[in-house]
This record gives sequence, C-alpha cells and structure tokens, in this order.
Amino acid sequence: MKEKILDLLLKNRFRFLSGEEISKVLGVTRTAIWKQINGLREDGYKIESVKRQGYRLTELPDNLCAEEIRLRLQSDFIRDIYVLAETASTNEVAKKKAIAGAPQGTIVLAEKQLAGKGRMGRTWVSPAGSGIWLSIILRPPIRPAQAAQLTFVNAVGACTALREQINLPVTIKWPNDLMLNERKICGILTELSAEIDRVNYVIVGLGLNVNQRRQDFPADIQDKATSLASESGNSFRRVDLLLAVLNSIEKSYKEYCHEGFRPILGKWRELNSTLGREVHVVTQDESYYGIAEEVDEEGKLLVRKANGRLESVLAGDVSIRI
Ligand code: BTN
Repeated sequence: MKEKILDLLLKNRFRFLSGEEISKVLGVTRTAIWKQINGLREDGYKIESVKRQGYRLTELPDNLCAEEIRLRLQSDFIRDIYVLAETASTNEVAKKKAIAGAPQGTIVLAEKQLAGKGRMGRTWVSPAGSGIWLSIILRPPIRPAQAAQLTFVNAVGACTALREQINLPVTIKWPNDLMLNERKICGILTELSAEIDRVNYVIVGLGLNVNQRRQDFPADIQDKATSLASESGNSFRRVDLLLAVLNSIEKSYKEYCHEGFRPILGKWRELNSTLGREVHVVTQDESYYGIAEEVDEEGKLLVRKANGRLESVLAGDVSIRI
C-alpha cells in the first residue's frame, strides 16, 4: 500500500492529489492513506498537504528506500530486496540468505556496515548514508573455475552505469576496482560457494563511495580512495545510481550467461586503465614490477617483468605506478 501511494505521488509530482482521488484509485479509506503518507514522511519524503487540495510530493530523501527501489526498478531478474539500517556486512547477510535457499537476484543493501569486508582480508569503510553497500546473490550455470569471470562481468556493468550517469571517466583497474582520477571509488568482492563441479551460489559485494568528503575517509586511505562527490563537486541521490548500477549489472550478467565471457572481456578492455601501464604486483608468494600487457581468456593479468618473463596473475593486488 505504501508503495502504491508512493507510486501515485511520484507519477504526479507536480500537482496535488486529493485524498478522494487516491482512495478511489486504491480502494482504501482516507485514514489508511493518511497513515501511509505519515510512514513515507518518516522515511524522509517531504509531502505537502493542503486542505481541499490534497497531497504533493515536494522532496525526495537520499535514503535507500525499498519501496522506491522496487517501484522504479524495471527488472525480471532482481526479486527480493532487503534494505537494512545497519549490519556487519551485507555479504554475510546475503550468504545466510543464499544458504537458506534465496533465489538468484536477491539483493541486500545497508545504510551502514559495521564490519564491511574488502578483498584480501581488508576492511571496507562503510559509513552511514554516504555510499552504496550492496550484495547480490547469483547462481550462475558455470564451473567453479570460471567464477573469476564474474568479477569482470560486474565491473563492466557497474563502470558502464557510472559513466552513463555521471559522465566522468570512470575506469576499471584489474580485475574489478573502479577508479576515477587514479583513486578508487568502488570495490567489488566476489565470494563463491561451490562443489568440485558446480557453483552453489556467488555473492557479489559492491561498495561504491558516493557522497563522502575527502576528510570522511581514514587518513591512511585518503590518497587512494575517493568518492563521486569529491571528484565531481556534486552530491548524488544514491537510489538513482543504485538503479542504474543494478540495471547495468543485470544486462552484463545476462550477456555473460547467453554469450559467454568473450564479449564481456572485450568491453572490459575498452574500459580498463591497467593494460599498457607499469604495475606493482603483490601476490601471496611474491611481489614484483612489470608492464601489464594483456588479460587472457580466463581473466588472468599477463605482466611482463624486466627480465622478459611473462607472469600470469590470477589473484593478487595490482597497483599502477603513476
Ligand atoms: C574491495 O576490497 O575492493 C572490495 C570491497 C567490497 C565492499 C562491499 S560493500 C558491500 C559488500 N559487503 C561487504 O562486506 N563487502 C562488500
């Protein structure tokens, strides 16, 4: 009901909707409408009400409101949407739901994470209300060895969406960090549960820094991390970005499921800012410098060392030398 009222208000943003009109369309009492309007106000929507004219939506909050996401998301893929005020890690919540049988396309969002997880055991700083902390459950029909490809699928989806939305030169650093002006704005942590020959589920965890100011980042990452707002000087309504990112990841994932990895890799190459650059590679066993020459058909980064040897990197930390 709240969702339906929000829908009407959104579709009629520039005029008043009388209680009578709403009650006719939805077949509910005016008291019930008034209750739901108050619920929306509590969610942060500014709704003007004028005697004998009705209600009018005057301002949208920067909240991740499940009703609005559901209404505006045009998807036959994303199903259940959970928005939490705070949680340790949305990936952990999604994992529990996947184990309990949640279908592919279930998403978990939080306004704030208390123990956000990054790649390689790092933490992901996830303050309240300023970023998109999102996990998606996937159940791809692939072999476990192909799971690293999903990292590329999601990076291509998210990068394409951001370029379209904010019109800034967002690029992908191998394998799936999104960068803006040589600083990281988005990280993706892909976690897998599999048996020898089949994937049970994959959790794609995406952290996008949206409205933080430079001083909001811990001092030790201020030179490496940034947000869309810091780089552009504008603040963004997170729901708008979220919808664009979800639609684009869905498109990228469907393309991967139908046509395989090759077209995704082609797009990744167009969007990347790693190939051709001098990189510092840190893996579990070693660390070295070299030139990032190519990405192979499995998504491994091929790095030419100074001694001429070509190393292939499947997992590791790659930083670009500026
Ligand atoms: C990275 O290290 O680059 C990956 C960061 C991934 C962070 C996101 S935020 C939402 C999801 N939940 C987590 O705990 N981590 C991911």
